[in-house]
Amino acid sequence: MSVQKSANPIELEARRKVGLAAAALVESGMVVGLGTGSTAAFAIAELGRRKREEGLAIVGVPTSWSAAELARQAGLEVRTLNDVDRVDLALDGADEVSPQLALIKGGGAAHTQEKIVATAASRFVVLVDDGKLVDVLGAKWAVPLEVLPIALRAVERTLVALGAVPQLRKGGGKDGPVVTDHGNLVVDAKFPSIPDPVALARTLDGIPGLVEHGLFVDLADLVLVGSRADGSVRRMTA
Ligand code: A5P
Repeated sequence: MSVQKSANPIELEARRKVGLAAAALVESGMVVGLGTGSTAAFAIAELGRRKREEGLAIVGVPTSWSAAELARQAGLEVRTLNDVDRVDLALDGADEVSPQLALIKGGGAAHTQEKIVATAASRFVVLVDDGKLVDVLGAKWAVPLEVLPIALRAVERTLVALGAVPQLRKGGGKDGPVVTDHGNLVVDAKFPSIPDPVALARTLDGIPGLVEHGLFVDLADLVLVGSRADGSVRRMTA
């Protein structure tokens, strides 16, 4: 089972508020990881506004082709991770968030770069609407996996042995599969539930040909949660 990303206007408004709150954490001189997805896009647009209207001076490190395009459109200076000596703060969305701040990411197939940038950052702030909060990860979402094309069947067999239902993610606007920014495939692995994300992450880390998985454990320092009911934004820390 894979879950298609979509958002209604109420969710989008909550995400916009969270994006504004996240952009307010940014200060001039920072190197900022720029996440992928609809929520991070609001933060990127707000950083562009702050640059134009307040003179905010930052360097952005995008986590995908899509984030880089949005950052350029917003007028932000963009560099790769190889071109900077640090990342002060990374801002990114998520698909599911547990009470312990473990995440499922990768609905936009960008989780490999997102995890690299989040891990490199001194502080990782996650932006979600409150519909993304779950008691146990895997309630709704499959775990996105970036997989080398030559390893597809072998990885799928390993996932089945682990009790998951793997599904190759199909592309939109083209025949065939989604191809990541790095030329790989995406397999969405649906586990019945994920009560121990640390253990599952360790297992997935050990599968050859699996480039990166969308379980983010012990990475988020702060989650900003936008209420769909009243538009307020609250902070979650572990
Ligand atoms: C990109 O691959 C994902 O990790 C996104 O960050 C995640 O899917 C959240 O996206 P939305 O903000 O669009 O829900």
